[in-house]
Amino acid sequence: MTTARPAKKPIIRHVVSINDLTNKEIEQIFEVAQAYLDELADKSLPYRIGCGTTLGAKSILATLFYEPSTRTRLSFESAMLRLGGENITSADPNTSSAAKGESLADSVRVISNYADIIVIRHPKDGAARLAADYSTVPVINGGDGSHEHPTQTLCDLFTLKTKKKTLRNLSVAIAGDLKGSRTVHSFVYALARFGAHIAPRPAPGMDLPAHVDKRLREEFRCTIDPNGPFGALYCTPDEPHQPTLFAEPEFKIVGGKPTIGAVYVTRFQKERWSNKDQTYPTVDAEFLKQPEFSHASVLHPLPRVGELDVSVDSDSRAIYFQQAAYGVPIRMALISLLLGLRKGKSLHRFEGGFEGARVPPYDQPGNEGLQCSNPNCIVHDPSERPYVRNKFQLIKLSSPPRQKLRCAYCETDVEDFVIASKKNKWFTPDMASFLRINGENFRDFLAFSSASEAENAGFHLRKHFAPQPGLQRAKARARGG
Ligand code: NCD
Repeated sequence: MTTARPAKKPIIRHVVSINDLTNKEIEQIFEVAQAYLDELADKSLPYRIGCGTTLGAKSILATLFYEPSTRTRLSFESAMLRLGGENITSADPNTSSAAKGESLADSVRVISNYADIIVIRHPKDGAARLAADYSTVPVINGGDGSHEHPTQTLCDLFTLKTKKKTLRNLSVAIAGDLKGSRTVHSFVYALARFGAHIAPRPAPGMDLPAHVDKRLREEFRCTIDPNGPFGALYCTPDEPHQPTLFAEPEFKIVGGKPTIGAVYVTRFQKERWSNKDQTYPTVDAEFLKQPEFSHASVLHPLPRVGELDVSVDSDSRAIYFQQAAYGVPIRMALISLLLGLRKGKSLHRFEGGFEGARVPPYDQPGNEGLQCSNPNCIVHDPSERPYVRNKFQLIKLSSPPRQKLRCAYCETDVEDFVIASKKNKWFTPDMASFLRINGENFRDFLAFSSASEAENAGFHLRKHFAPQPGLQRAKARARGG
């Protein structure tokens, strides 16, 4: 008699961060988006999908939006309808069970039985990752707090690729609220990955968040050149294995001076700032007269609320409405690949993403020990508290060698912490020795944000770790023992 084997649990592919996708997968999404444009675009407007297919017939997309949206929700819904599928939507938390206090985790557990794929937008950083943890179908992040907005980045890159042919060595100025804008955060990682240079032009006090800036430099191999032709400029080193998608160099020299290839304008994200009366620069026809912008395509994720003057609309460099139109073919492509609607093409076979599988080695239940320091992280939301875990990824940096922890939800880093043994009641700030002895098994250990926190929780400082046995032997040999 043969025993039935348990069904293999399928890998569910979620897109929460742009880094959940490899460069190759981004290329694949663009190929499929281009195929939809070739097959289904309006003859007179090549960037507008004008008819549909039946590839996605009987598939259901749920749009679960806890924050206002025009482009993201409607282009996702349009994409699903063009694929021949159906949409169910919760566009306003005041009219769903969220108004009765239902947690996001429970809502997603329920909705993943009603739909084949879910797009979520939420005001809290990390909410989409929490949703993914509780979903049995793919979750796409439609924007979570000021964390990320990966599908906007897919639209941005696709627009740039179509217009500029290449991203490699292209200098992209990013203007406005670089701190609060989630579109910018996904975008800068992607720019760095494809070999573009980033020229930040923040509004006063609205620079990139420190953890994004550090991550660009420490993990995406960007260097900052303060004397670069555009002021502070992040340059990505030349790497022979850079993907070929954006192959030809675009760095133009005009009259001996390099020019900016694109300027990406963002609005002041007032909803994420307590001081709403801050000065905010405007990009207008006058601004674009500066010689460095003579060849700059102008992008904006939209909506604009005054920071991008309407006088720019008639300028041939303005491509933001085209960028918004690409939301449909890009999202058609993403849905198709996540649901495997096109023969032989799917994303759900791959595990991990650009940075490999994201398995948090530190994963503890309850309220004990280290908590994420970001006050807007979903882990601090009282309704989600019973559903979240204290989960952190271990990030190992090489120069200088050190380790840090990254919140598995909102990706804010913890640079300083101590690690304690529950069994032995000691703690140490010496993470390197800890890892050497325990490997990356954090199961019996608790992290604390400081020594005093660990002491208050009843742990004592372990002064010295026993030296490595191999090291002891080597030292003995060196002494002639
Ligand atoms: C962006 C968003 O919601 O983050 N909008 C969009 O999806 N196109 C940008 C913004 O609101 O400023």
